[in-house]
Amino acid sequence: EVKNLEEIFEARIARDEKIEPKDWMPEKYRKTHIRQISQHAHSEIVGMLPEGNWISRAPSLRRKVALLAKVQDEAGHGLYLYSACETLGISRNELYEQLHSGKAKYSSIFNYPTITWADMGAIGWLVDGAAIINQVPLCSTSYGPYARAMIRVCKEESFHQRQGFEIMLKLANGTPAQKDMAQDALNRWWWPSLMMLGPTDAESVHTEQSMKWKLKRKTNDELRQQFIDQTVPQADLLGLTIPDPDLKWNEETGHYDFGEIDWDEFWQVVKGHGPCNKERMNARVGAWERGTWVRDAAMAYAEKKEKRKEV
Ligand code: ACO
Repeated sequence: EVKNLEEIFEARIARDEKIEPKDWMPEKYRKTHIRQISQHAHSEIVGMLPEGNWISRAPSLRRKVALLAKVQDEAGHGLYLYSACETLGISRNELYEQLHSGKAKYSSIFNYPTITWADMGAIGWLVDGAAIINQVPLCSTSYGPYARAMIRVCKEESFHQRQGFEIMLKLANGTPAQKDMAQDALNRWWWPSLMMLGPTDAESVHTEQSMKWKLKRKTNDELRQQFIDQTVPQADLLGLTIPDPDLKWNEETGHYDFGEIDWDEFWQVVKGHGPCNKERMNARVGAWERGTWVRDAAMAYAEKKEKRKEV
């Protein structure tokens, strides 16, 4: 019978139908979605920290308002994605537990420090730029709740990207010191942004199956190339130099060739040894612990209300 169900499921995928929470799905499909959607949710939540660092130090009220809105959007994306993940039969508490115990992964990119204001520009421009390239194909992913979440998330990401690019534009056209700051931020964020899109296709353990299930619509390498091709002309417009001497336009392929990515660095960061992994985890676990009394109070209040109803 399972075989029959599996055939029906495969046929639905082939027809590009959305799979919904109460539909039959292979256990592996469910598990891999929990894995990817929860990692994505955790990334949004941890992703608030590097930028949160600059909210109180934004150079003007206008910049502060925009940055605050952006960080709040990320909280919203995280909660939205946790909800999508819960439809697969895992509880929010389990998901938090996985993050706080270090069992769950979140994006490598958020383990780098934000040293100057220009990092707010570089994150918006590069990190959110890469996120959009990764997430637009996910708007047509096969699992309904994830696909629908991505549509809204991508609209907001596009504001985030422009917010970052505008900061870079302002700095790049500012004083020599401001331009240097912008260049320095590009130098530090360029390679981690390329890594963010995941290991090469040859090293990516999940891509083949995820492409078959239409969870992924494009491979890590395809997305990385698309990101580079889109971003190089933007760097030219800013008058900044991408820190890759091997970067050059290839007339034959119609794409940019680029230098070797330091995959050792990537795996070190993924395994918890990046510059800020400990700091990020301490911040999340600390926030959870400091919130205990709020959760306890809310539960006590709900119980009291429930008892009153019974009387
Ligand atoms: N950071 C941390 N871990 C990563 C990263 C990364 N940048 N890229 C890949 N990995 C992990 C994978 O999670 C996987 O580990 P696991 O088996 O323990 O889950 C392992 O490395 C192998 O990678 P892949 O086989 O390529 O994994 P996958 O098919 O899931 O592709 C990708 C990785 C592209 C990140 C995919 O999961 C994805 O598209 N996720 C949704 C988008 C997302 O999470 N974005 C987060 C940052 S965007 C933002 O928050 C602004």
